[in-house]
Amino acid sequence: MTRRSLVIAVLWTVVACRRQEPGDPLRGLSAAERARFDSGRVVFDSTFTPEVGLGPLFNARGCGACHDAPVTGANGDEVERHAAVFHPERPGLPCDVLAAQGGPVFQDSVTPALRAALGIDREAVPPGVTTIARRTTPDVLGFGLLDAVPDSVILAYADPDDTDGDGISGRPNRFFDGRLGRFGRKALVPTLREFNDGAFQIESGITNPSVPVEGTVSGDSFPAGTDPAPEPELGARGLELTDAFVRLLAPPAPLKPSREARRGRDAFTRSGCPACHVPVLRTGENPIPALRRKEVAAYTDLLLHDMGEERADICFGLATPSEFRTEPLMGLRLATQFLHDGRAKTPEEAIELHGGEGAKARDLFRALPAADRAALVAFLKTL
Ligand code: HEC
Ligand code: HEC
Repeated sequence: MTRRSLVIAVLWTVVACRRQEPGDPLRGLSAAERARFDSGRVVFDSTFTPEVGLGPLFNARGCGACHDAPVTGANGDEVERHAAVFHPERPGLPCDVLAAQGGPVFQDSVTPALRAALGIDREAVPPGVTTIARRTTPDVLGFGLLDAVPDSVILAYADPDDTDGDGISGRPNRFFDGRLGRFGRKALVPTLREFNDGAFQIESGITNPSVPVEGTVSGDSFPAGTDPAPEPELGARGLELTDAFVRLLAPPAPLKPSREARRGRDAFTRSGCPACHVPVLRTGENPIPALRRKEVAAYTDLLLHDMGEERADICFGLATPSEFRTEPLMGLRLATQFLHDGRAKTPEEAIELHGGEGAKARDLFRALPAADRAALVAFLKTL
């Protein structure tokens, strides 16, 4: 080996062994996949203006305005308003997501043209709707792997009638057409692609081939002249690249556990946390080799659990107000607020706020010696 090739070999090893950092792509991408990831990041990070289609109602000017901390694709400070009305007395159709009145997401910003036309600063929730849910911005790192988990794997964890009597049921949400849901805090949206495409319209008012029409202002169409850009405001390629970026984002690699964190993992198991926060899910067949038959340390079953009346807000699809999807703990160390509404400022507080089906695990956590509780939290902070 020449000196030069030795240097190259050493450099190559250093690069190949470099720790994967949050925001990096999955390992093992082809050059073409990597190129799509890089171009997709640009679309995800772009700032839309009214001239190119922003609004007239929007929550932020682009995906990267919210999913940005500490890296593109991660968490954000933005908190949204979602609303829906639960009619438990109507079997079959108990959840009204207020689609005809601008729901379920009520945007918090308007373009200057809409402000001038209507004199509003944000979209009003219909009068009489009392339950307004707060939704913090979660990270989407590793979510391509969650999308690649076969339905059968998720359904195998479901136990809607708690036949095993462990106090934990876990039931699937289903989209309006019956498909299994898994994305969003209430697990309503079946595929990552649909969530990504929908987000352009819902979050930024950017119409596209999947969601070709603008929403409404609390049910009324936008006044003439307030939406000058022709539909669709983003083309198929922009959607595909954004989806490639989100899909190919690697899950944050867990930190090397300290001895305390290793003890904490045992405490996590002993407290019954894995009954919902399933440590590892396996993906199925997939056209992308980096997503095919991989293990993902997701710490979720992607199912709904009743977390108690105190945590309840809105219904969503089959999810009742108190049911939420087990939040993946993958990437937890990057979060600065916890639970769907950001109510918990620390992982300990999040555990303390587990009620309903989560109460037993919470009580087991509370009963641990202080050192074991600290160890469990140290473990969570490696994820
Ligand atoms: C205004 C802030 C904001 C913007 C802009 C935004 N998001 Fe989100 N995103 C959120 C919030 C809030 C949620 C959680 C929704 C919920 O709780 O159901 C979310 C959830 C998601 C999820 C599902 C995560 C999960 O836990 O299942 C994906 C995927 C996603 N966003 C992708 C995107 C893409 C792609 C864009 C740009 C087209 C985008 N987001 C723009 C705030 C935002
Ligand atoms: C019955 C199912 C269930 C059990 C058991 C359970 N959790 Fe959870 N966990 C959830 C659900 C559902 C959420 C999301 C709740 C929300 O958003 O309000 C959650 C959220 C969390 C969060 C917040 C994550 C975030 O990013 O917002 C943490 C931390 C957490 N759980 C830790 C634990 C620990 C530790 C245990 C064991 C002591 C445990 N959980 C047991 C279902 C469960």
